[in-house]
Amino acid sequence: MNNRDDDIIVLKDLSKIYGDGVQVRALDGISLRIKAGEFVAIVGPSGSGKSTLLNMIGLLDTPSQGHITLKGIDVSRASPDERARLRNQELGFVFQYHHLIPEFTALENVMMPMLIANKSKAEAHLRAEELLASVGLGDRLHSRPNQLSGGQNQRVAVARALANDPSIVIGDELTGNLDTKSSQLIYNLLRELNRKINQTFILVTHDMTLAEKTDRILRIVDGKIVCEMKRVGEDFVTTDYCERAE
Ligand SMILES: Nc1ncnc2c1ncn2[C@@H]1O[C@H](COP(=O)(O)OP(=O)(O)O)[C@@H](O)[C@H]1O
Ligand SMILES: [Mg+2]
Repeated sequence: MNNRDDDIIVLKDLSKIYGDGVQVRALDGISLRIKAGEFVAIVGPSGSGKSTLLNMIGLLDTPSQGHITLKGIDVSRASPDERARLRNQELGFVFQYHHLIPEFTALENVMMPMLIANKSKAEAHLRAEELLASVGLGDRLHSRPNQLSGGQNQRVAVARALANDPSIVIGDELTGNLDTKSSQLIYNLLRELNRKINQTFILVTHDMTLAEKTDRILRIVDGKIVCEMKRVGEDFVTTDYCERAE
């Protein structure tokens, strides 16, 4: 496989095996290319390897076999410093639980990663205001997490993930704790942001109605991609290898 310039993520024969005694093959030879700006969902049953795959892409864990290339950098050969730089500068994370700091306001929570990245307080303040406005919370800047709903807190978490302008945003069951309506709102918002800022979004969900908000759906079963669907207009077309897998 040759790298193409617009492939921001390239996975080649990626496997992850957990355990010393009883071994679990959580990922089993995954090869995948994701283009810059793509809006991708990863779906599959519980225990199929979705989080493991996302953690590999997010450089939170290392593969047992295979290669990961992010922005043309082979991360398996990168130094710990380079991996940390990629994680801090190129990746944004949103998890099932928002992990906001309870004593901080929405504004302060979103400013935090920018201050850590040595941006000035004035710049961080301005950008945090803009980001919170873009997730529909321009009027809740000074609210703390316990003063906001679950859906609002997840929107703060999305704003925080975008703070340092990462090229890749990953979300693992980020609406897992929300009701259907709030989940739909968050996915609509992410779709809008993805179109506007052309960042790459990769979202894990087990909810197909949410996955169908994206442009490309990868289905994982037993650590393998068994099917892929791509948006064409309002519909999804199934790639031909799905029939063979089913
Ligand atoms: N840290 C770990 N140690 C051992 N096994 C793990 C670990 N993390 C995940 N697994 C196993 O790997 C498989 C895939 O897990 P995971 O990626 O969390 O699936 P999903 O996110 O699709 O529910 C499961 O069988 C799970 O039990
Ligand atoms: Mg998971």
